[in-house]
This record gives sequence, C-alpha cells and structure tokens, in this order.
Amino acid sequence: MIRMLRRIPPVQDPATAFDAAADTYDDDPHHGTIAEALVRGLRLTIPPALVVDVATGTGVAAFAALRLLAPERVVAVDIASRMLDRARAKAVHEDTACRVDWRLAPAVPLDLRDGRADVVLCASSLHFLGAAALHDWLRMLRPGGQVAFSIPMADDFHPSPEFGRMVAAHLTIPSDAAAATRIAIEAGFVAARAETAAPASGDRPRRAFLVWATAPNAPRL
Ligand SMILES: C[S@@+](CC[C@H](N)C(=O)[O-])C[C@H]1O[C@@H](n2cnc3c(N)ncnc32)[C@H](O)[C@@H]1O
Repeated sequence: MIRMLRRIPPVQDPATAFDAAADTYDDDPHHGTIAEALVRGLRLTIPPALVVDVATGTGVAAFAALRLLAPERVVAVDIASRMLDRARAKAVHEDTACRVDWRLAPAVPLDLRDGRADVVLCASSLHFLGAAALHDWLRMLRPGGQVAFSIPMADDFHPSPEFGRMVAAHLTIPSDAAAATRIAIEAGFVAARAETAAPASGDRPRRAFLVWATAPNAPRL
C-alpha cells in the first residue's frame, strides 16, 4: 500500500534562516531604506549617549544611527552570527572609532541595565520578537528615551510557511497606522506616532509602518 506523506516544511529558526540569508541580505536596499527612515524620524535634541539596535542583522540601523545621531555608543544585538559577521566586516569602514558593540545574543531580554538607553531601534524585526520585546525596551530606556521600530503592513505581509512559523504568535500585524501606534501605546509608551513607508524595491509590495514613541517620565502603576 502506498502511503501518501504530507510534505512538512523543515523547522526553521531565525538564527538558521538569517545565517543562510546573510551573504546576500544587503543586496536588497529595502531594509536599509526602512532603517534610515526610522533613525531620521527620531526627535532628539542632543546626541544620545547609548543607542541600542535590537535584532541588528547586518547593522543597517546601527550604522544609520552612527551617521545621523552621533551617539557615544551603540549596542547592536542579533541571534544570527553570520549576519553579525557581515556587520563587523562593514564596521571596518563605517565605524572606524569602534563605537558599536556587536553582541551575539537573543534580543529578549537584553543584558542591559534598566533606564540607561537613550534610543532603542528595531528595524524590520519586531514581528519575530513579539510584544515582550516592547516591555524590555521600556525597561532599558531612560524616562523620555525614544523607541523607533518598523512592522510590516498586514495587506502586504504574506510570509511563506517556513517564514510564517518564525513570526511571533501574540503580536497582531497592523492594517493601518492607528493599529501600529497602538502596539507602542498598549506596551506603555507615550506620544506614539506612525507613518507608512513604501520603499520601491523588488517584485512585491512591502509596505511597513514606522513607529516612534517615548518612554514615560514615570513608571506606570
Ligand atoms: C529582517 S532582519 C532585520 C535586520 C536589521 N534590523 C535590518 O533592519 O536589516 C531580522 C533580524 O532579526 C534577527 N532575529 C530574529 N529573532 C531574533 C531574536 N529572538 N533575537 C535576536 N535577533 C533575532 C534575525 O537574526 C535577523 O537578523
């Protein structure tokens, strides 16, 4: 008797998936465009002492922060070692003062002290991390510190089965800017605002929301 076996896609974790993508990741300008827009949208009055780039990948947001914010220090964390290898290779030219501390680690929770970060960046990655990441960012940020993250727009988000299984279960992919803003507000941030980003690249629409928000001055009771 011939038994029909259903094809089950191989289990994939983000480290394995992004290690496999690392060599060609920077060929696609989409992520760089999103990361730079996030950094440009921050409303800072003085250069930040500490910027944290969560799920930095090949470092596009970390390098944008170096260029545009003149921070004293950047901590950039990712779980995929080959993505970090690419970032370190670029840092030879893009971070000659060695201001970025590249760390191979899970993004949540981050091994950083409470209330020290001026800025948290998370470009094109929150959907892998889930809502717990927002609470960790709130913990790390000083009162009045700013977060900037992007998240795909639901209408354009059609992950493959392998990719879909890496997406955090308890985070709703937003359909509009108001829903994107609510992700930050519901986590406890204030003064949240969102814009739609539609970088022209590739063969499919990949609109995303860019969200900026502020850590409150006093912890919520
Ligand atoms: C689409 S890439 C974005 C990278 C970069 N932020 C950018 O804008 O190009 C998603 C990144 O999230 C990382 N990632 C996914 N889950 C992670 C986790 N739990 N901890 C740390 N990094 C994670 C992946 O390794 C990958 O580098």
